[in-house]
Amino acid sequence: MSSSWWRNAVIYQVYVRSFADSNGDGTGDINGIRSKLPYLAELGVTGLWVNPWYASPLRDGGYDVADYRDIEPSYGTLDDAKAMIAEAHDLGLRVLVDLVPNHTSSDHAWFQEAINAPVGDPSRSRYLIRDGRGPDGNEPPTNWKSIFGGSAWDQLDDGQWYLHLFDTTQPDLDWTNTEVQEEFKDIFRFWLEIGADGFRVDVAHGLAKDMDFPDEEISGELLQNAKTPNHPYWDRDDVHQYIRQWRAVLEEYDDRMMVAEAWVAPDRQPLYIRPDEYHQSFAFDFLESNWDKEELRGNIEAAIDSAGSVDNVPTWTLSNHDVVRHATRYGLPLGTNWRTWLLDGPHDILDADLGNRRARAAIMFMLALPGCVYLYQGEELGLPEVYDLPLEILDDPVWVMSGNTAKGRDGCRVPIPWSTSGPSFGFGEREGWLPQPDFFGALSAEAQAGVGGSMLEHYRSALALRSTHIPDSGDIDWADGPTSDTLTFSRPGGLTCWINFGSDDVELPEDAEILLASEPSFNRVLGTDGAVWFR
Ligand code: GLC
Repeated sequence: MSSSWWRNAVIYQVYVRSFADSNGDGTGDINGIRSKLPYLAELGVTGLWVNPWYASPLRDGGYDVADYRDIEPSYGTLDDAKAMIAEAHDLGLRVLVDLVPNHTSSDHAWFQEAINAPVGDPSRSRYLIRDGRGPDGNEPPTNWKSIFGGSAWDQLDDGQWYLHLFDTTQPDLDWTNTEVQEEFKDIFRFWLEIGADGFRVDVAHGLAKDMDFPDEEISGELLQNAKTPNHPYWDRDDVHQYIRQWRAVLEEYDDRMMVAEAWVAPDRQPLYIRPDEYHQSFAFDFLESNWDKEELRGNIEAAIDSAGSVDNVPTWTLSNHDVVRHATRYGLPLGTNWRTWLLDGPHDILDADLGNRRARAAIMFMLALPGCVYLYQGEELGLPEVYDLPLEILDDPVWVMSGNTAKGRDGCRVPIPWSTSGPSFGFGEREGWLPQPDFFGALSAEAQAGVGGSMLEHYRSALALRSTHIPDSGDIDWADGPTSDTLTFSRPGGLTCWINFGSDDVELPEDAEILLASEPSFNRVLGTDGAVWFR
């Protein structure tokens, strides 16, 4: 029997390394998460997604897995993980773990075996290891680029090349190899047996490659965002056979689910969430939307239609551990490329108050939409991107691999401030692995809890109201707004949401019963960038 709890869940993403440090080593850990589970339950989310916590050299924040069945020692032990899952369940919270099937760490036993074996050894066929081009084979097999920068191929001592679409320490697996397929079915089962409610699957539109290894057309920015289907390594039709294998494994258990990190065009999304594939796939076009009424509405409608075409609902998120936090994105002039702005600036074009105001409104329209919502740790505190981390401490491999032309993702991974003072504002007993700016104390959970109008209390109110006033299913009704600049929709049961994108104030109907407003001092008049729920 399977239920569909995930259809309207609110899942809180925990980036383990930066969430809470229980043992004072500067790194977040599983016991830190355990200590904050009551906070998450009180916030009003219904589950959490834990970023990779497996044994790892942490070259790419744990997305470089050395052992899929064990926990990274600096995060804790397998027993800690089991206890965390059980305690979350006791609080009514579901737990998703992050599965990374596209590549392993170069420290993984399989890769070590492969590179220590002679050319042609079967152990090499678990990865994509090929001869090079050119007279001596000293040129990479294709022109493919790593997403982090530079060639996607690295040469082994014996002259052959291995593919790594990400860091050089993240060799890509060969998914046509049945041993690879069987191993991952087993890894899924391992975590399902331990009690995981589901999986966030990394690089879900990767895995399958064009095994003829053609060159690709190189254009502009390096992104995972596959704009065209059947690219040499993104969004290939043959990826779906592997997804079906995993879904069959999940169906052996009750109530489990999986969500895809698939950066594909909206018209390709439905393929990933067919009834025998993923349950969910993030609507990344919504995340990437500018603060523009038509663009947002267009991307919302596209996501709803696309999911609806396979009888499913969309999966919304505004921030995650890979993108500039939305409180900062929304404070940049319309159309700014926030990825390049991080390094290139100018940083004084950022209007932090504007971003904060829009973030207060954004959570309201996101929570009112049909479908499931994912929050990223710290957004409930209104944390902005820390865009000015000193270059010499950057940890993200993007910084080095891009030849210092892209700053990477450290700025959204700065440790969470839990209290107003202390060496890391309550993150742990000493400074965290990345430094926090001084203003983090004022944004801490302690500073905001119980304070009317704070971002934290705003999130708590919105989440509480979502559970009582937003229907589990059903459509969205778009209506003409009071002005052409007001985005207006309502949901079955009578909740109406207005967001004012214009510069003129908008007055609410006289009989409107106000449920929540994004502006702390709201008095029936909706200002620029404000949102309101009423019925
Ligand atoms: C995904 C993860 C990202 C990671 C990459 C390689 O995009 O979200 O953090 O660097 O995959 O695993």
